[in-house]
Amino acid sequence: MPPAKGSAHRKDPPPLPFNPAEEMTLPALNGAIEGCTRCQLGHGRTNLVFGVGNPDAELVFVGEAPGRDEDAQGIPFVGRAGQMLTRMIENVIEIPRSDVYICNVLKCRPPGNRNPEPGEIDCCEPYLHKQLEIIRPRLIVALGKFAAQFLLATQIPIGKLRGKFGRYRGIPTLATYHPAYLLRNASQKKVVMGDLLRMKAVLNGETEPVAEIYS
Ligand code: URA
Repeated sequence: MPPAKGSAHRKDPPPLPFNPAEEMTLPALNGAIEGCTRCQLGHGRTNLVFGVGNPDAELVFVGEAPGRDEDAQGIPFVGRAGQMLTRMIENVIEIPRSDVYICNVLKCRPPGNRNPEPGEIDCCEPYLHKQLEIIRPRLIVALGKFAAQFLLATQIPIGKLRGKFGRYRGIPTLATYHPAYLLRNASQKKVVMGDLLRMKAVLNGETEPVAEIYS
């Protein structure tokens, strides 16, 4: 059988720096992966950007990959897109940013903020899976195409996923646009605010997260 599309250039990732079957805390996981060079991005970073926030969060936001500011500070979503995300969390969902947990699919910055490559996602994805296994959030928001397609295990375009719930390992996961996209397309802010209001209602137990995406 010919190799699956896109797999020909994908090598098996190097060994993991932790045992995925072992129970761990977030700081222990962070410590285990902070020297990671499983993919090429590990050689170009200033800081690995692990994640930030409440380790017992009910709600986790997952973005794409660190940008320049995040790479410099080692904290996700601290640049312009991050400031927009913070405003959305605090003004729309009306909870402090410190109540939620925020992380990315990739832990290291792709050069020039290019899109993540499949091989980089292969290398980094066990870190996100383990983070989410440790936190065990009640709800997840996937920010943008890469997080939404990764968490919901689908290739459906973000325009079709946006505003819908699917499941990540059983956890209701809402796809919405990335805040960086909103910086370029201010007219879409309203739809994202609508998505987050829906998430707020689910968080507060006022509505059910009915799944519309099945993967
Ligand atoms: N964009 C992301 O996807 N993540 C960040 O941490 C910052 C910008």
